[in-house]
Amino acid sequence: MTNDTAKVFVFDAYGTLLDVHAAIARHRAAAGPDAERFSELWRFKQLEYSWILTLAGQYVDFWTLTQRALDYAFARVPSVDRALRAKLLEAYHELDAYPDARATLAALKARGLPTAILSNGSPPMLDAAVKASGMAPLLDAVLSVDAVRVYKPRPEVYALVIARFALRPQEIAFVSSNRWDVMGAATFGFRPLWVNRSGMPDEYADRPPLRVVTDLSALATLEL
Ligand code: LAC
Repeated sequence: MTNDTAKVFVFDAYGTLLDVHAAIARHRAAAGPDAERFSELWRFKQLEYSWILTLAGQYVDFWTLTQRALDYAFARVPSVDRALRAKLLEAYHELDAYPDARATLAALKARGLPTAILSNGSPPMLDAAVKASGMAPLLDAVLSVDAVRVYKPRPEVYALVIARFALRPQEIAFVSSNRWDVMGAATFGFRPLWVNRSGMPDEYADRPPLRVVTDLSALATLEL
């Protein structure tokens, strides 16, 4: 290990700063007893489409994939009323940030560390969510895979951070709640942190995070 330290903190968006299950949470009563399964399926299909298209050498923007995944979830979980479609998409477009997101970004900036998002999200959806959650003034950059038209964990995506900040990979702290994204960041040479909020089992043991935290607030004082 060298004496390198993190000079910028880069965050995954969906699931890390933004709560992907907040859309269903806003309509939980109307969605009924299968709301949780529905939301998990919606999220998982959205990611699956991103990986499969990238493997096939194709690109369709993340907002379109989010809608396709939602339609799949409606088809698989018929107890959830399709009349909720527009409301759920509206809620997803302006997702809630996790309660500790803004304070953590502010604390990092107070320490003189620039902050950024690197996300699969398409620019309009990221823009809307970042503004709605009040994070816009706390971010130095919002980088989307749309610039390279492949999805995480392709290395071209992580390279967008290098292009923006002109730093070496080992100077970049990369924070994600998605263990597969941590794997991609570790492979690229970033200093990866895994936010494991719900005690998920570890995966990709040969591409470990530098640290595991249970929420974002732990990052405010972390020396990395
Ligand atoms: C993102 C996906 C992983 O924000 O949720 O990049």
